[in-house]
Amino acid sequence: MDETGRQQQLWDQWAPHYNDEHHGRDPGPAADFLASLAGAGGRALELAVGTGRIALPLADRGIPVTGIDVSPAMLDELHRHRGDRAVTTLIGDMADLDAGGERYELIYVAFSSFFFLMTQPRQAACLQQIAGMLAPGGRFVIEATIPRAPGLLAGRQQLAIRDLTDTHLSLSAIAHDPIAQTIHFQEIRFDQSGMRLLPVAMRYVHLSELDLLATAAGLHLTDRYADWHRAPLTATSTQHISVYTRTGATP
Ligand SMILES: C[S@@+](CC[C@H](N)C(=O)[O-])C[C@H]1O[C@@H](n2cnc3c(N)ncnc32)[C@H](O)[C@@H]1O
Repeated sequence: MDETGRQQQLWDQWAPHYNDEHHGRDPGPAADFLASLAGAGGRALELAVGTGRIALPLADRGIPVTGIDVSPAMLDELHRHRGDRAVTTLIGDMADLDAGGERYELIYVAFSSFFFLMTQPRQAACLQQIAGMLAPGGRFVIEATIPRAPGLLAGRQQLAIRDLTDTHLSLSAIAHDPIAQTIHFQEIRFDQSGMRLLPVAMRYVHLSELDLLATAAGLHLTDRYADWHRAPLTATSTQHISVYTRTGATP
């Protein structure tokens, strides 16, 4: 099975559980931030849109969103909650975007989803296609974990208790390959109905590597924050929000 097929299979497994697993994450600050960058009349493209956790509230703020995702089951969840919002979806691989001549004022990829491209060449190809799809003056925004954030890379293997109650146990089993920069997870859930496995496979990227890949793709970093509220990035930050424009584009 190729990489696209594998990611599809993993995320199809997540789809019925994804919104419940992440119900505690407020997408409002992300939607506010992204709406301010898209500007009045701007159109957005979300890569790895999933169930529309961010795309739907962004559309509520008046920004039409096109979302691309490899998992039909995740997109089915999005459509179940879409209502009459201006969100359209495409099934596809974000390393193999079919621009069809479309240009966007805003392209974004959130929640470390860029890392689901499992090799550096696929990550480089994605950034190159993004650069070609930005409208003049458009912005590309990536939200991702900073790889050395506590917990993620603590050794080659770890098993962590995420939640433990009288009726429920959540574990994360993590295998890390520091040479390939890959992490394979199983989120393991036990409750009275039985056991569930929720798998994740990702290739993390350090900030320096991301900026080099972006530069090679013709993208230029303009801003970098620690969160969607624009807090400054510090040595203890665990995630970053990075904003790029096409090199040579008017800031
Ligand atoms: C963690 S979810 C993020 C969903 C949404 N962006 C959010 O913030 O909640 C990751 C998503 O990436 C999608 N995905 C993984 N690999 C992909 C690829 N190569 N191209 C497009 N989507 C991909 C999965 O199907 C899944 O919906």
